Amino acid sequence: MKRPILIHPDPRLKKVCVPVPDISDDLRVLADDMLETMYAAPGIGLAAPQVGILQRVIAMDCIKEGEGDARPLVMFNPEIVESSEETNVYEEGCLSIPEQYAEVTRPKEVQVKWMDRDGNEQSETFDGLWATCVQHEIDHLNGKLFIDYLKPLKRQMITRKMQKLKRERARD
Ligand code: NI
Repeated sequence: MKRPILIHPDPRLKKVCVPVPDISDDLRVLADDMLETMYAAPGIGLAAPQVGILQRVIAMDCIKEGEGDARPLVMFNPEIVESSEETNVYEEGCLSIPEQYAEVTRPKEVQVKWMDRDGNEQSETFDGLWATCVQHEIDHLNGKLFIDYLKPLKRQMITRKMQKLKRERARD
């Protein structure tokens, strides 16, 4: 089931999310819903707080259409265990900040460990877009948005646009 995506500014997008205890059927449903919501948007990543759930869960798939088989990835309690010194710049966007993009510099490679939907611990090193995406999504779990990396003026400009968008949507 698709869930509504919260739009910035929203206090729930600024919260530090709590770790999930054990994997439950409810959490597996949440994971499926997040993937469905992400693909429908369409987007390449989604964090639980973006659908109003303040728990440490993210969904990702950075395989672009026509680029090969989909790789739906859900991570519970993801943690960055190592980051490269080498950095990468990507133009980032966010489903909670529609149609706004800006360059963000982040480590080029990160090693991440997480719990999968069967409760097994996983670990993988991500590079390129995957590395940027997983860092962006884990930031969400700590109440951080990509616009927090921008200069205050630019951030305020985007926030004002989003406030206007929310007012317009509320009227419809
Ligand atoms: Ni985002």
